[in-house]
Amino acid sequence: MYSYDRLLLQNKAWAAEMLADDPHFFERLAQLQTPEFLWIGCSDSRVPANQITGTHPGEIFVHRNVANLVVNSDLNMLAVLDYAVNHLKVKHVIVCGHYGCGGIQAAASRTDYKPVLNMWLRNIKDVYYKHEEELNAIQDEGERNDRLTELNVVEQVKNLSRKSSIQRAWKEDQRPDLHGWVYSLKDGLIKSVFEMKAGSEVESVYELDDL
Ligand code: CO
Repeated sequence: MYSYDRLLLQNKAWAAEMLADDPHFFERLAQLQTPEFLWIGCSDSRVPANQITGTHPGEIFVHRNVANLVVNSDLNMLAVLDYAVNHLKVKHVIVCGHYGCGGIQAAASRTDYKPVLNMWLRNIKDVYYKHEEELNAIQDEGERNDRLTELNVVEQVKNLSRKSSIQRAWKEDQRPDLHGWVYSLKDGLIKSVFEMKAGSEVESVYELDDL
């Protein structure tokens, strides 16, 4: 038996369990996807959106990448965001980072990770540079990375608010609210660190008035 066979076996057991609980579970889900939330999280295997929020299939639309970034030229993220906001009409977009994030640690170091990781981590280095004064004042490396994790989430939420698609949805539909969260691997708890309700003020250079 190969290691991945365990996944297929467990899948059979899971499907049977779900059916035992609710005989119409899959029938219902197959016909309808109406999640209220879009989750932009880290790819880290220890931070699965559904498990840590106690939600079920169908409740959260998910996009994950290294260190939960909202990069303006990332076609993958943009397609997920477009579908979630304009078609699924989600009410909340959550950017969830996590303490102990390898991407954050890598970006804060001087190690050359070679392309393409360097290119990706550069986005986090730019966050560091923007908040250099505050971060450099923190002596302990772990604490400094924890703070960078929080600031990274704040900046990614702001990146969302700078997008025309978000500003248009705010104007036309008074949604979605944007949330910045950080998950702790140590105790399994999520902390809210930043929030921008629909219609929040956006930095003037990013604000579009001909939407
Ligand atoms: Co991570």
